[in-house]
Amino acid sequence: MNNPLNLSIHSLFSIGIACLLPMLPGCALTLTAQAPVPDSPAIEAQARAMVAKLTLEQKIELLGGVDSMFTRSAPSIGLPRFKMSDASVGVRTWGPSTAYAGGVALAATWDKDFARKLGEALGRDARARSVNFLLGPGVNIARSPVSGRNFEYLSEDPFLNSALVVPYIEGVQSQGVIATVKHFALNNQEFNRHNTDVEADERTMREIYLPAFEAAVTKGHVDAVMDSYNLINGAHATQNEFLNLKLLKGEWGFQGILMSDWDATYDGVAAANNGLDLEMPWARFMNAPTLLPAVKSGSVKESTIDDKVMRLLRAELRYGFTTRPQFDPADSTYSVAGRAVALDGARESLTLLKNEGQILPLDPARIKTIAVIGPNAYPAVTGGGGSSTVQAFEPVSILTGIANLLGPDAHVLYSRGLPDMPDVFQQTRWQGGVEVATYPSRDFTGAPETATEGGITKWSPEWWGPADKAPRSIRYSAAFKAGKAGKYLLLGASAGNDSYKVIVDGRALPNAVNVEGQTPQFWTLDLAAGQTVKVVVEYLPGFAGIHFGMGLVYQADLISPEAIEFAAKADAVVVAAGFSNTSEAEGADRTFALPWGQEALIQAVAAANPHTIVTVTGGGAMDTRSWLGKVPALLHAWYPGQEGGTAVAEVLFGKHNPEGKLPVSFDRSWEENPSAAYYYPVKGADTSLHVTESGRPAVDYVIPHLKYGDKLMVGYRYWTTTGKHPLFPFGFGLSYTTFKFANLQAPATAASGSTVPVSFDVTNTGSLAGAEVAQLYVSDPSAKVSRPERELKGFEKVRLAPGETKHVTINLDDRAFSYWDEAAHKWTIDPGKFVVRVGDSSESTPLSAELTLK
Ligand code: BGC
Repeated sequence: MNNPLNLSIHSLFSIGIACLLPMLPGCALTLTAQAPVPDSPAIEAQARAMVAKLTLEQKIELLGGVDSMFTRSAPSIGLPRFKMSDASVGVRTWGPSTAYAGGVALAATWDKDFARKLGEALGRDARARSVNFLLGPGVNIARSPVSGRNFEYLSEDPFLNSALVVPYIEGVQSQGVIATVKHFALNNQEFNRHNTDVEADERTMREIYLPAFEAAVTKGHVDAVMDSYNLINGAHATQNEFLNLKLLKGEWGFQGILMSDWDATYDGVAAANNGLDLEMPWARFMNAPTLLPAVKSGSVKESTIDDKVMRLLRAELRYGFTTRPQFDPADSTYSVAGRAVALDGARESLTLLKNEGQILPLDPARIKTIAVIGPNAYPAVTGGGGSSTVQAFEPVSILTGIANLLGPDAHVLYSRGLPDMPDVFQQTRWQGGVEVATYPSRDFTGAPETATEGGITKWSPEWWGPADKAPRSIRYSAAFKAGKAGKYLLLGASAGNDSYKVIVDGRALPNAVNVEGQTPQFWTLDLAAGQTVKVVVEYLPGFAGIHFGMGLVYQADLISPEAIEFAAKADAVVVAAGFSNTSEAEGADRTFALPWGQEALIQAVAAANPHTIVTVTGGGAMDTRSWLGKVPALLHAWYPGQEGGTAVAEVLFGKHNPEGKLPVSFDRSWEENPSAAYYYPVKGADTSLHVTESGRPAVDYVIPHLKYGDKLMVGYRYWTTTGKHPLFPFGFGLSYTTFKFANLQAPATAASGSTVPVSFDVTNTGSLAGAEVAQLYVSDPSAKVSRPERELKGFEKVRLAPGETKHVTINLDDRAFSYWDEAAHKWTIDPGKFVVRVGDSSESTPLSAELTLK
């Protein structure tokens, strides 16, 4: 290539055409972050020349990360280290940042354009922090509502995930930042995530769990992929030949970087030979002591190492990381534009599930006094917990959002309604104190140090103990005497990697063992007046330090009297309930039941005021059975990011017409979810104490194998195939206006493999502007194999003024009609009859047409 100015290949793409003549006035060579250039022979040659200058040791050094969030540098070839950050809902790793409605909230928008805007905003936020790799998006399927990271992922449907992930990735990468699609693959539970071996057949993987990854690679051209912690059909993801070599780098032609999740590598040679390019956060296994002898003995080829280094360099050159600063002075960590994107996302994602008697929208002129009650009313709940948790700039809570919208004349009454968890621990009156036996061992053996303490609580603020203290085991023994008859809440919580077992009157409580992190656990005990129960807790700290608390309180006493007084005198009440970053977080599964005390709070408030509107936060469905019939309105807020409170207020008071649609089926109970029977190995629960466990069955935690016996029957595929109905179907969401679908047109016959256009009209038949999501489902009644009754194969978000009609055309490609043929090992269309259905949810498809594929 003719390169007279001696600029690097990338620089030539970074500057405007006029600047190829830098002597022209007004032309300065500013090398700002920008979209990557495609791979080219010149880039390949440059990367190869760099590899050739490295020794084998130096090449191996590049295969591991450093300082938790960086690739390694290679000073001998002038290669600096490059910076990473989590993740899907905001650039969280490097200080405060904009917290968006990402993950499941993005999926609830059903808006491809918004996915691109979100990706661009994340890319800009990354550049403002000199971040080269964004460690998102996460696209694992929401198979079960209790999976602890659903909130970071998208939906239960592979088509919806694929459709959103492509513009999202394009948006991030257009800003000169590498997106990392994760967690590859079948990481559909947080429970025991390092050890779980997912056993799934190929058709299930191809049709349900892999399409979003495939689309990210083949259509979104993502430049990094992150392997998950779990095993898949017997091999950890980081050494899984089928996933990494056959599919990702083989069939899908991935040329980018395959990195491990943090500490998800288990065998250096196996990982090196099975596709892993970069071990994060450091080279614990893919390092010189392991790989040098392996290369010498021939068990790992040097060309395999070279290929990994080439992938790193190729990406870094294509993005110009070596020739321009990643920091772009046009962007700042605090971003007004980002705030607007965060507000848009929150507005678009809020999903109205119930609105009996049209109680919503509330009329600000008629609501003189409003009570805002609940643990999620204040402070703002912007996201779930774990590595995605963003320290948001100025998050707006539901309380402040409502107060801001109503203005200074409004009477806004606030009560948290429930105590804080540490208060429950501290207020518990154990009879005669608590015996604490601290053993020098991990298994309650040896001579314990004993003490008597007032309570079981070392919860806060000592979260991380001194590093020089080895973990011990501790047995707490205490007695509790019930003052009055009725239901008592037994509440326990520990730190992330701790585990504990609770024994009441000699019987271990169901689910009372903790592996690899746990959200607070709770049980309800039915006690007689004067009954004394003996509570023993066997606690194993995962880290040095003690981070455990337990309390036992009369359930009705939890609810603060002022909450009920406020509710009684208000014109309307908003109860802000749901999960938060302490009750739904990475590293643990969550309960299906709402967090402790909330059901009782909703019931008590609803009894005091019939105009009670419930908002919930969470990554999916939750148990509404005890209270939904008692309240007229339910708004699902997902995790709406830092502007969520403003958007919730706008929807409640009709300043924004709700437009979110469920990206997951909303089950009534955990047990009715189609994965429930296969999710945890269940052992018999001892219920003789009248114990109600908090949303999950008792579990044998030493599971290595999880067989996905639910196969293709995930979410609405199960509900529509069985003809049963969840509480709210996938795709459902109410609006303050009404829509009509008409004039479906589809060809009566078409050739297999051709593109099939399907068109129809959507009309806003109400009196308010609003948005509808037109959803297209395909059925294959004449297939040779059994297929789900219907599958989403197209959708379009349509914004309509009152009375307006828009004509929508959706082009169905061959995949829309195909299934994975296990015998032929390929995508197959069985010619014959198909049905296309169009409507506003998986269960409401007023239009349908038959077509025959020849
Ligand atoms: C998570 C990843 C995350 C990484 C770095 C891991 O625990 O599973 O999703 O990107 O940490 O923070």
